[in-house]
Amino acid sequence: MPLRHRTTLTQYLIEERRRFPGSSGDFNALVLDVALACKAIARAVAMGELGGLYGDHPGEAGGAINVQGETQKKLDVLSNELFIRMNQWGGHLAGMASEEMTDPYQIPKANPRGKYMLVFDPLDGSSNIDVNVSVGSIFSVLRAPPDAIDSGRDLTEQDFLQPGTSQVAAGYALYGPTTMLVLTVGNGVAGFTLDPNLGEFMLTHPKLHVPEDTQEFAINASNSRFWEPPIKRYVDECLAGKSGPRSKDFNMRWIASMVAEAHRILMRGGVFMYPRDNKDPSKAGRLRLLYEANPIGMVMEQAGGRASTGREPMLSVQPNGLHQRIGLVFGSKNEVERIERYHREPVEKENNTPLFAERTLFRD
Ligand code: F6P
Repeated sequence: MPLRHRTTLTQYLIEERRRFPGSSGDFNALVLDVALACKAIARAVAMGELGGLYGDHPGEAGGAINVQGETQKKLDVLSNELFIRMNQWGGHLAGMASEEMTDPYQIPKANPRGKYMLVFDPLDGSSNIDVNVSVGSIFSVLRAPPDAIDSGRDLTEQDFLQPGTSQVAAGYALYGPTTMLVLTVGNGVAGFTLDPNLGEFMLTHPKLHVPEDTQEFAINASNSRFWEPPIKRYVDECLAGKSGPRSKDFNMRWIASMVAEAHRILMRGGVFMYPRDNKDPSKAGRLRLLYEANPIGMVMEQAGGRASTGREPMLSVQPNGLHQRIGLVFGSKNEVERIERYHREPVEKENNTPLFAERTLFRD
């Protein structure tokens, strides 16, 4: 077979870095450390039951509960440890924050501290781990506040509360039939496939672009009785298909791994909704702003898609907590804009639309 030249992740990063002649190389080294963590997690996930890593993490009272109140899987805990282990020594980070840790993680005093902060969900979609369905890791890179860089002080929660527009880079790894790393460093989105023979991420999907239009949507319809009117209206219109106001048929998908849904949408378009709803008034949504919505939002926007709360662009939201939850809508631009428009239009008008009033398929 003729040898095909492919760009490696390292080469891609070096070429991107040439746009910034003064850069130190710290950022590239950081991304490679993240990629190493993802490769290690990919191996652990691929071992499945053979690795003895299925099931809940044995906590004090039978199962460990994370800050979200969710049961931690063994692979959640291992993935978190791998992210920490691979990223705490290089001197590129001032600190880290993770879905699996209540407070910011401080770089041990014995290690040098750097100018970036890494925020991550080490294993997204963990309800899918034990059933061999795709899961992934999501990450976001922010700059540490200047005084923290100068003094090397410990980071506080406040240091991480930066809007998505401040992200320097973001991406995810998807542990599916192949392992992929999807990355934006603020200059479009590139997809890399892990070559298992070489252990290298190879550039296979340069310049990813989310189609503006779609006929595919993803939402957990079991929550329909809790949805707000704009979402009910949107979904009803999709379900009405050719005979409804959209005059076209739609397809529905729900993997319950947001990272896998994001990847499908990046590849062929679509819209994903985990909107704010009335299920639990104490929660403004299901997904987390800093390590789920913002990184996926940056990837989408860099690929020509859109990410929103339904009411405002996701990346402009000023966070108020490390583990803040938020309603999330992302994907094909024209569909996300339509959903935002439905949120702006008065509810009375929505309730008066014939479809919403008479033909709702997910009726309360
Ligand atoms: O924790 C996040 C997550 O696993 C997402 O990856 C996924 O989209 C969502 O939760 C699934 O939620 P539900 O169980 O309500 O469908």
